[in-house]
Amino acid sequence: MSALPAKAAILGAGVIGSGWLARLIDNGVECAVFDPDPGAGSTIAPVLENAERAAAELIDVPRPRKGAWSLTGSVADAVAGADLIVEAVPERLDVKRAVYREIESANADGIIASSTSGFRPSVLQEGMSHPERLIVAHPFNPVYLLPLVEVVGGKATDPAAIERAMALYTALGMKPLHLKVEIDAFVADRLMEALWREALWLVNDGVATTEEIDDAIRYGCGLRWAQMGTFQTFQIAGGERGMRHFMEQFGPALAWPWTKLTDVPDLTPDLIDRIAEQSDAQADGRTPRDLERIRDANLVAILKALRATGWGAGETLAGYEARLRETTIGD
Ligand SMILES: NC(=O)c1ccc[n+]([C@@H]2O[C@H](COP(=O)([O-])OP(=O)(O)OC[C@H]3O[C@@H](n4cnc5c(N)ncnc54)[C@H](O)[C@@H]3O)[C@@H](O)[C@H]2O)c1
Repeated sequence: MSALPAKAAILGAGVIGSGWLARLIDNGVECAVFDPDPGAGSTIAPVLENAERAAAELIDVPRPRKGAWSLTGSVADAVAGADLIVEAVPERLDVKRAVYREIESANADGIIASSTSGFRPSVLQEGMSHPERLIVAHPFNPVYLLPLVEVVGGKATDPAAIERAMALYTALGMKPLHLKVEIDAFVADRLMEALWREALWLVNDGVATTEEIDDAIRYGCGLRWAQMGTFQTFQIAGGERGMRHFMEQFGPALAWPWTKLTDVPDLTPDLIDRIAEQSDAQADGRTPRDLERIRDANLVAILKALRATGWGAGETLAGYEARLRETTIGD
């Protein structure tokens, strides 16, 4: 039996919901989408267009026939008969809980996968009649290209739902990372927020512009991070004696007043203006759509390079293609 759902519902068609839609239909899954915004269709179209361009460039084997999709008029219509219910509504507990109530009255057994960036699943589960099928499946933008999805269960989650989810996201070509301990904002966003706070301080204190900070990332550590994480990178930096040596050498620096990580700069109108103006200057006339296309082309190139070395996200991609090849031969 395929790990993929026969039918999925997507609730919320913003940046993330549209990205999930692209990934699901690209794997042949039929999808029903609900978003109360009458303009939702116009948000979806460019995301699907970007996703198609990226997949055509990236995937080297015959791809599955696209899943059909449609916009529906209500949560109930979207979730009827769905095995997977992707919740991608705004990051507000009251909105998410209201949506869960609607789901529960119209669908009895689909997995409910919240895209939340920060709410613990146990918090989302409060007040549900059947919380055992709710999980967090936290993706990264663009969902159709980045493989990582953090899978987190709450106190009431049935372990079988986690098991199904792990198989399902693998079948979608993703790298599901099962976090066994629930914390607010999970792992990846905690790391990103630490960097973000430090970056905000550097702009606030007039140390560097947004462009200089981005250059400090993309010309150095950012290139390393695409292929090895912080720990493996530092282990190598420790030379022959590895991580122990690295920690002996740089451990004491942690006590020096290098970072302002625990404090947050005041997001004053002046600081927001400065960051927005510097970011616009950095874009140099490119529209958000232009930047999306550049981002996607770069991500495709990086994924291809990692596929050639069989490493990290490239290994995930190669495994996905191998499974697609088998499916196509079996057709
Ligand atoms: N943007 C990111 O980079 C990112 C990354 C990972 C996870 N997330 C999470 O994904 C979720 C969605 O974020 P987003 O960035 O796509 O937001 P968004 O604002 O782009 O989209 C949210 C969509 O939900 C719709 N909506 C509002 N109420 C609804 C309802 N009752 N039923 C169905 N749809 C409804 C809105 O009309 C909107 O189109 C949030 O929980 C967020 O934390 C976002």
